[in-house]
Amino acid sequence: MSVQPEDALAADVVTAEPARPRAAQPTAPYLEAVTAYGFRGSARFHVPGHKGGEGADPGLRSAVGDRALLLDLPQDIEGVDAGPKPTPYERAERLAAEAYGAERTWFLTNGATQGNHALCLALAPPGHSVVLQRNSHASLIDGLILSGGSATWIAPEYDPELGMAHGVTPEALEGALARTPDARAAFIVSPTYYGMAADVEACAEVAHAAGAALIVDNAWGSHFGFHPELPKCPLAVGADAMLASTHKIVGSLTQSAMLLVAHGDRVDTSAVARAVRLVRSTSPSSLLMASLDAARRQLAVHGETLLGRTIQASTRAREAISAAAGCTVLGAGMVGRPGIAGWDPLRIVIDVRGTGCTGYDIAAELRASYDIYVELATHVTLVLVLGLRQPVEPLERMAHDFTEVIKRMERSGDTPTLRPPPGALETAVAPRDAFLGAGETVAASDAIGRISCESVAGYPPGVPVLLPGERITADVVDYLRELTAVGARLHGAEDPSFRTVRVLVEDER
Ligand SMILES: Cc1ncc(COP(=O)(O)O)c(C=O)c1O
Repeated sequence: MSVQPEDALAADVVTAEPARPRAAQPTAPYLEAVTAYGFRGSARFHVPGHKGGEGADPGLRSAVGDRALLLDLPQDIEGVDAGPKPTPYERAERLAAEAYGAERTWFLTNGATQGNHALCLALAPPGHSVVLQRNSHASLIDGLILSGGSATWIAPEYDPELGMAHGVTPEALEGALARTPDARAAFIVSPTYYGMAADVEACAEVAHAAGAALIVDNAWGSHFGFHPELPKCPLAVGADAMLASTHKIVGSLTQSAMLLVAHGDRVDTSAVARAVRLVRSTSPSSLLMASLDAARRQLAVHGETLLGRTIQASTRAREAISAAAGCTVLGAGMVGRPGIAGWDPLRIVIDVRGTGCTGYDIAAELRASYDIYVELATHVTLVLVLGLRQPVEPLERMAHDFTEVIKRMERSGDTPTLRPPPGALETAVAPRDAFLGAGETVAASDAIGRISCESVAGYPPGVPVLLPGERITADVVDYLRELTAVGARLHGAEDPSFRTVRVLVEDER
């Protein structure tokens, strides 16, 4: 019978070993086992049907190369993730746990998204409430829809001038936990999309005092803790579980990520293991998982040196970009504002308000003139994301090209500022009931007073304005119309122009 890697781990290697030597970190057992099998020339009478590349379409072969196709293996290959224990796959997950100081790690092949779904299924079953940061990633809201749990929302700190939502404060978390005395978990996001880290240590103390586990969506901070100038890894300062979207910064392949649970008993690892299995393919990609093993090795063995170089290059680029007229690069000066206890130098967030141009216009000009693509543009900012092993030359070039673009761009006038998102809405039904219930699409103006089936967040500021189960107000409709008018994108909306919205047909409930 086939054995899923999670089952094997649950049965065999769940024990915490905090004092393990780090001597095995330079190895990458899963990557090495996949490579050994992939290149040895075995006769493959198993899936996948491309048979190591020979059976594939020639266009695919030339696009991704036969070497990648040879390494595209199914689950349960003896000596890779089946056979004597611990298998190379199990050893790889253990090494990742060791590197991050976790009790247990799960390799994810559907991103941190899969981790958020699994955590909700494990910690927020029907009839249970959890405390959730309002500007959490959409996958956490989707996780609640899957799990059937409900949430008490914590409003993030909001900076109206930058149109930017930051982290939550320990005080706000404490208030939300007090309103939800049976909450077994609190979910916060740190760092934010803009690289601003919350005071995770104080949040953990507050959560633990209330008897709840603290779960940190550290999707953007998978390098935290690996260089003294970076914020600490959330698990090192009291978080009970975290996500690391290692593909974002650390260098594993897109769609790969890790879910990590801390030593201790606040999060039931067997419940998480069951939930991960529920939201996992029975054919996880060996390429994605090998890339996780390799990324962990590079991070654990060379991370500090590589990050040091990238941080230095970032400092130089930040100085050069700040010299462009009307531009300020956000960084250490933000620390100490409500919701911000640290920041990530691998994120270059440029405040362009003083230029008289919008971030959207500057991003378009950078693309048109220099073939430069940024991570995010908002009406008042541009966000660049650097990698663990950032190539320095393009970064130096970028600072020059950016300055040139700012010099010659036509000024469109004052950049608009956005008012804060509307305050808390009435939650009429659980997110799952609204999302799965019978709905109808109506004109936005006719939706006032109805229950939303949709989750709608504007970028910026990335805070969901409307969640499934919430009652729509006139203020919400006005705000979302204002957002679309200034060019903000609406995430999650069935109609991104917000002319219509899907609402619950209440009579049929
Ligand atoms: C805070 C946060 N959590 C989770 C995710 C989902 O990560 P992934 O794309 O790896 O599924 C994202 C994606 O951007 C994110 O920003």
